[in-house]
Amino acid sequence: MQILKTDKEFLETSGQKQEPVVEGIQPDLFGTSLKILFLDSLRSQGKYKYSRYKGLPLRYAGGKSLGVGYILEQLPNGLERLASPFMGGGAVEIASAKELGMQVLAYDVFDVLVNYWQVQLSSGNELADRLKDWTPTKAQYAEIKSRLKAHWMNETLIADPIELAAHYWFNHNLSYGPGFLGWMSKIYESPEKYIRAVKAVRNFRCPTLSVHTGSFEETITRHLNDFLYCDPPYYLDEGKMFRGIYPQRNFPVHHKGFKHELLRDLLHNHKNGFVLSYNDCATIREWYADFQVIEVQWQYTLGQGETRIGKNRIENGTGHVKQSHELLIVKEG
Ligand SMILES: C[S@@+](CC[C@H](N)C(=O)[O-])C[C@H]1O[C@@H](n2cnc3c(N)ncnc32)[C@H](O)[C@@H]1O
Repeated sequence: MQILKTDKEFLETSGQKQEPVVEGIQPDLFGTSLKILFLDSLRSQGKYKYSRYKGLPLRYAGGKSLGVGYILEQLPNGLERLASPFMGGGAVEIASAKELGMQVLAYDVFDVLVNYWQVQLSSGNELADRLKDWTPTKAQYAEIKSRLKAHWMNETLIADPIELAAHYWFNHNLSYGPGFLGWMSKIYESPEKYIRAVKAVRNFRCPTLSVHTGSFEETITRHLNDFLYCDPPYYLDEGKMFRGIYPQRNFPVHHKGFKHELLRDLLHNHKNGFVLSYNDCATIREWYADFQVIEVQWQYTLGQGETRIGKNRIENGTGHVKQSHELLIVKEG
């Protein structure tokens, strides 16, 4: 990590408030400095303030690897413990645990994804050993997908957690989108790319992160006194801009019918603070008007269920790169 500025200089130029040092009280300098140094290391020289957080073992649709800098900026300085009800690919959760040393308790409703994370965190070597026996070809992909589909349909279960995690990772990471039970992307047919990705699975370590299965109504209630990071599925009902994508566009059973109103009510009653990321739309702005609402924009290339991509790209001439218009809604802890 390259140290570009002193803490004081960074705080002055970044517009962040400096904690007053009160005599006799020890401010949490260690946690605060870790955050400042990490954000400094993510700073981009280009148009956007922060660059992508690298080193995640799983690609994920709607993943926040490009948003990590903006989101971690909003977490309280010196925060030691974070709860996250919507893990997905876990960009913010992993950065908070690995880079800021937090204990992170994460959840997701999708049990096959959670099994992958549990295996990744406890047995990355064994998982990589299993993956290295496979090759990134269309034929191999079809075979894995058909076994995973039989598991999903409850026809033939894959009982061994490592075997199930390997099937999930292979099918998902090599797919277009990416999406669960999706289609193989040409880009991921490269053997060199495959070897590198399996190495990332093998070398990944994140001892202060835990991931469990659970739906938000139960997990938010369980963590009433914790600071939360919430990245729910996009709100779909306005303007027909987005379609459901979790776990897959053709069967978005974890997205369509998501109880956004219930999440709103739980967050309004939450005892500690939170950072919530959402797509920018009138309903969400109205529901969360009592909190700080920050508009953020970063570049991203992975699918977010947008239905107007073709038209947008033609009109804006933006090629394959889309702008993400997101809101960060913040309640201080
Ligand atoms: C926007 S994604 C999170 C992406 C993540 N922040 C990342 O960087 O990859 C939303 C996640 O919410 C999960 N989800 C959907 N409904 C849920 C529910 N009722 N309770 C908990 N998780 C849910 C989905 O499975 C999906 O993984």
